[in-house]
Amino acid sequence: MANMAAPCRLRFSTVPLPTRSPAPWSLGVKGRTSIDATSLRGGASRGVGAAACAAMLAACLPRTAAAQRCAARTSYTRCAAGDAPTLHVGLVGYGLVGQELMKQMVAAAPKLEEQIGVKLEIAAISKSKVMALLPPGSDGWDESKEEPADLEKLGKYVVDAAASSGGRAIIVDNTASDGPAEVYEAWLLAGADVATPNKRAGSGPFPRYEKIMAASQKTGARFLYEATVGAGLPVLGPLQALLRAGDEVESVEGIFSGTLSYIFNTWKPGVKFSDVVKEAKEKGFTEPDPRDDLGGTDVQRKVTILAREIGLTIELDDVPVKSLVPDKLQSWEPPSGKKLGDAFVEAVSMLASPHFGQELTAYDDEMDALLQEAEAANEVLRFVGAVDVKAGKASVKLGRYPKDHPFASTQFADNICAVSSKWYTPRPLVVQGPGAGAAVTAAGVFSNVMEVMNGMR
Ligand SMILES: NC(=O)c1ccc[n+]([C@@H]2O[C@H](COP(=O)([O-])OP(=O)(O)OC[C@H]3O[C@@H](n4cnc5c(N)ncnc54)[C@H](OP(=O)(O)O)[C@@H]3O)[C@@H](O)[C@H]2O)c1
Repeated sequence: MANMAAPCRLRFSTVPLPTRSPAPWSLGVKGRTSIDATSLRGGASRGVGAAACAAMLAACLPRTAAAQRCAARTSYTRCAAGDAPTLHVGLVGYGLVGQELMKQMVAAAPKLEEQIGVKLEIAAISKSKVMALLPPGSDGWDESKEEPADLEKLGKYVVDAAASSGGRAIIVDNTASDGPAEVYEAWLLAGADVATPNKRAGSGPFPRYEKIMAASQKTGARFLYEATVGAGLPVLGPLQALLRAGDEVESVEGIFSGTLSYIFNTWKPGVKFSDVVKEAKEKGFTEPDPRDDLGGTDVQRKVTILAREIGLTIELDDVPVKSLVPDKLQSWEPPSGKKLGDAFVEAVSMLASPHFGQELTAYDDEMDALLQEAEAANEVLRFVGAVDVKAGKASVKLGRYPKDHPFASTQFADNICAVSSKWYTPRPLVVQGPGAGAAVTAAGVFSNVMEVMNGMR
């Protein structure tokens, strides 16, 4: 069998196609042997399909270790023989989310290779100033490979690695910076997929956004950004699926900031607003610059992304925002050598201290009055972003909601998103859950990476 000359091609016609897998299911050995099960039909169980595949594989392939493993399988997994294709990953940004994503990928890679039949290879990592182009088998930062950061060079390195292995390349941008977004178009045109929790491209200048989308359309390389809204929560995926299936979205409304969710979920009468802000920062819920949360810019970015997803041509500045940043801190810069987030919390505390006189007393008092008014009406305060499709408008504001409204039931740092549409009416589609934190954000990015892997099998 090992020297089999003629191709062995089998097409199943009476065994069922597992309903949950739309992807073609095929296997091959160096182009000579393939079993194509894309047209499986019938009434038997999934296990039967896999067993039949295993039996045929055993009949026409050399009994390599992979073939033996496959022959023993009864569940639906890709019956792989020969080398698994490789997804070469370039990680841009190696902070909280980047390092967590690396950990999750390294831990899951062996199981994914077995189940999906695709290898994950970390090909390169970049921080803001330095990068490391890595040899195969790397599982983290390698100081000996350090060189000045150059995102175009990194992209080329990852794409070349994919070309020489016959696999695919993906660049994952885990920064909060605009720099990488400037290179997405080039990466996509070179055939690399791009995945990111970074909101800069989706909410940045519309012409750049259009170019990125056009590059993806042109080459078929995918631009994936599920984690830009709701972190690990499935918000954009279901929305895209509804739109593709022909639903008409009327509005999207939600609490999209884990930080502000935490602040308004935990803030109770008698507690200073500035103290709750400080606690949120200490618990690690804020963006690298907490003003992105408090100023509403983070939610403004997410709402812009959602509005564009639904088809509105909208710029960030078209989304009015009610900022919660005290005027004194709007254009404040951290003292040199201090980490921005920590220094900001110090500054908020200082403003909130009695020594600062009326400035912050006014800030805390103003916020307290809003809370008291809401309480008196049996309502809660929530910082909400909304897209009204008919009006072609989006907004970000502090709203009041009755205590039995779904937005009043959020806990801790929950995000919640309600989609009203032609199909989802009068009750909206609601997605709710933790919407901040490195673990869930990295998991959201990883789900996009796995989408690409699934497409490779
Ligand atoms: N953390 C969360 O809970 C959360 C939740 C939702 C979404 N996100 C999003 O996830 C992204 C990452 O957040 P994070 O919390 O991981 O941030 P972070 O800890 O501050 O890490 C940012 C990383 O990006 C690197 N970087 C900055 N500019 C760069 C550039 N031009 N080229 C290459 N690398 C660059 C930084 O390099 P240095 O190490 O040299 O500084 C750092 O390694 C952000 O877009 C954020 O909005 C985060």
